[in-house]
Amino acid sequence: ASNKKLLILPGDGIGPEVMGEVHRVIGWMDKRRAVGFELEEGLVGGAAIDGEGAPVSDATVEKAMAADAVLLGAVGGPKWDDLPFQQKPERGLLRLRKDMALFANLRPALCFDALVEASSLKPEVVSGLDIMIVRELTGGVYFGEPRGIETLPDGTRRGINTQVYTTPEIHRVARVAFDLARKRQNRLCSVEKANVMESGVLWREEVTKLHAAEFSDVELSHMYADNCAMQLVRAPKQFDVIVTDNLFGDMLSDAAAMLTGSLGMLPSASLGDVDASGRRAALYEPVHGSAPDITGQGKANPLATLLSFAMMLRYSFDLGDDADLIEQAVQDVLAAGHRTGDIAVPGAAVVSTAQMGDALLAALDKRAA
Ligand code: NAD
Ligand code: IPM
Ligand code: MN
Repeated sequence: ASNKKLLILPGDGIGPEVMGEVHRVIGWMDKRRAVGFELEEGLVGGAAIDGEGAPVSDATVEKAMAADAVLLGAVGGPKWDDLPFQQKPERGLLRLRKDMALFANLRPALCFDALVEASSLKPEVVSGLDIMIVRELTGGVYFGEPRGIETLPDGTRRGINTQVYTTPEIHRVARVAFDLARKRQNRLCSVEKANVMESGVLWREEVTKLHAAEFSDVELSHMYADNCAMQLVRAPKQFDVIVTDNLFGDMLSDAAAMLTGSLGMLPSASLGDVDASGRRAALYEPVHGSAPDITGQGKANPLATLLSFAMMLRYSFDLGDDADLIEQAVQDVLAAGHRTGDIAVPGAAVVSTAQMGDALLAALDKRAA
């Protein structure tokens, strides 16, 4: 038996399609690297609504908390779009993040050399790009109270969400970002809108205090979120690590994804605190969604999910060499010209999800030979 308990939640749309390729790599890891997992599979999102009556069941949340790591595909789709807000597939994912206290969401945007041409930006702007966005994931306007839709006496309707951050919430995510910066180029850019929002003022003050107290060796800068969006498209290589709130992080990471060629390339790790026994709750998922427009057609790029699996090997299981191997194999298949539609240059040949998986396994074989 293995001591690595992994819960797999394929979810909806292209989720199960890309997860199929991860299963093949897990099989390869077991056979060729003796890296075995105790696998369990569960439902989340629309699949869980259909199968269990809720976007994530209590039993699945419990399994997720008991697992050493969770790997998730994607949730959502047109079939469930008209459900009441609280019952939508996306609530399942949000509940997992909240209940597992996964406050730090690492979204690396790395432009592989072979994909420089696939980016919508000029080659010199993106070649060699390697930035890490740390998105706060369990606070801010996503979870703040009060929230809801209410009807005023005169019949006017009002939708309410609240942006709120506390000092511990800011400190814990900033700490993760400072630590990562130290292992990279030692530069951290903290992003908010302190010019308009009190929560942004607090964010800036607290990050500055933490910097002075514990991380003065790291080069810290501050930037307003709107400027950051612009700078990411103008000159993205100025950034090393970015730390920002839940909503800004959601938007800035989708923008950063396009620098790398496609949303279908971007992995992520959502991490909690290390507990007394040294365990750290963790969920890994691609940044993209369920892509209803290409579901069931074998067109999905599985690399974001495969790279999320590699992040899991690195961050949850300390298997950096095996993570490197997968990342190098991804580099090999891209260099050899294998392209799903999302990363293909117009007119070039396109491979299916499974063919990309075939190519990756072949590249792994070659690397491991
Ligand atoms: P999306 O990320 O699903 O798709 C955006 C565009 O990118 C689409 O054109 C899609 O075809 C393309 N794309 C995404 N992933 C791809 C891949 N691996 N390979 C090739 N092309 C890919 O975003 P959306 O269309 O705004 O949302 C669709 C559904 O997914 C919604 O229900 C949304 O709530 C949900 N969603 C879920 C997650 C998640 O599970 N973490 C993230 C974002 C959106
Ligand atoms: C993401 C998604 C989610 C978010 C949705 C599906 C809840 O867009 O993971 O980036 O907004 O966080
Ligand atoms: Mn998003």
